[in-house]
Amino acid sequence: MGIEIRSLSAEDSHAHNILMNHAFGKGRVVEAPAADATPEAKKDTYGVFDNGKIQAALSVAPFIAHWGSNRTLSMGGIAGVATFASARGRGYAEALLKKSLEVQRDSGQTISALNPFSWKFYARHGWEWVGKRYHVKLPLRELPTFPGGKDVVPVTQDNVKELLEPVCTRFARNYRGVFTSETRRWDSTLDHSDGRTTHVYQYPGDGSYLLWRYNDNDGNGEVREFIANSPEGFRALLGLLHYFAPQCEYATLTLPADTPLWNLFYHWNVDTNARPVFMGRVVDFAAALREIDVPPSVGEGNVTVSVWDEQAVWNSGVWRVTVADGKATASLIVGEASPDVQLDIRALSQAFWGTPSLAEIRTAGQITVSDENAYALLSRLLPAFPVFTLDFF
Ligand SMILES: CC(C)(COP(=O)(O)OP(=O)(O)OC[C@H]1O[C@@H](n2cnc3c(N)ncnc32)[C@H](O)[C@@H]1OP(=O)(O)O)[C@@H](O)C(=O)NCCC(=O)NCCS
Repeated sequence: MGIEIRSLSAEDSHAHNILMNHAFGKGRVVEAPAADATPEAKKDTYGVFDNGKIQAALSVAPFIAHWGSNRTLSMGGIAGVATFASARGRGYAEALLKKSLEVQRDSGQTISALNPFSWKFYARHGWEWVGKRYHVKLPLRELPTFPGGKDVVPVTQDNVKELLEPVCTRFARNYRGVFTSETRRWDSTLDHSDGRTTHVYQYPGDGSYLLWRYNDNDGNGEVREFIANSPEGFRALLGLLHYFAPQCEYATLTLPADTPLWNLFYHWNVDTNARPVFMGRVVDFAAALREIDVPPSVGEGNVTVSVWDEQAVWNSGVWRVTVADGKATASLIVGEASPDVQLDIRALSQAFWGTPSLAEIRTAGQITVSDENAYALLSRLLPAFPVFTLDFF
């Protein structure tokens, strides 16, 4: 029988659960399903089987990511990458990542993202860090009262999700990478986990909202989501946090890189860590390019781009990128070609996502430019853009 890579059938479900607990659950015992149980089918999960026994697995969650104001892209979210310890180092995870790229390409997921256990491991397979976000520890006792803070109300009705959806979508359109409301993980966002309540508060002025949770261990609080669509909404939510100060000295929150926080409140004790959002990748360069908006300010013309991609080999080669009639298309050049710009798939993926920008990538020496005019066109086609996400997968 030998080695086989295939998607999981319902019968593989129990063995897959054991693998997940081996890799992520500290070897927790997994009860065998009852004889009359109907196993859950895991159609988006792929396994490496050695003589019929699962050795490694990977899942591709289907997401749709906002891509700026009026565009969305289909995205594969890579998760649950795991190999039994006794089968590691044989290239099984690598083979699954390669398989996932084919699967994503074939299902029209032109981009991919993942939350890495090791940045180095996935960089070898063509994913690279994209986006910047701030993890902030806010000293609540230093926060003043803000206008609108007393207007913020708790949301307790059943239809919380319906109430928050349009507000979240309005926010999401400022970024690349926030999942559409249909593919967001609202259940885990709003659920009351670990026996503690997830409180929802909303500013009626414009619907800006935050999700508050008391920490279990250190007496502080966590803002699970802080979604403000106007300066008034931002101030009002900060104003609400001021009223948590009697109980909690600090609250943690995660904000996009373009947050106005520091303009609205600053103090020596605002502790800000900048980190990447996650790792992103272009799965299918030609298809991804066809999907993006090309505003008139980009202009028209050609740029030849040499791309090196060892895993998704269909991206490798010298491409003629043509910008015309509000569209960008890419076709592979057959035969000799002297590229204007040369870069590998990791640099291309970063530039496509928008953070870091092509200029920053160039400053880091990660692209080679032979023609400045062509590079300028590519920079306008792939402009700097903030990346953010709200869901963990
Ligand atoms: C990560 C994991 C899936 C790799 O599975 P695998 O089948 O051994 O992977 P491969 O055989 O394709 O690649 C292994 C090679 O990757 C490299 N590698 C492994 N961990 C690495 C790390 N942290 N950083 C950089 N390289 C790493 C090594 O070169 C390794 O080979 P070697 O140890 O024999 O030198 C496996 O170790 C695992 O299940 N870990 C626990 C669960 C986990 O953290 N999953 C990732 C979630 S994002």
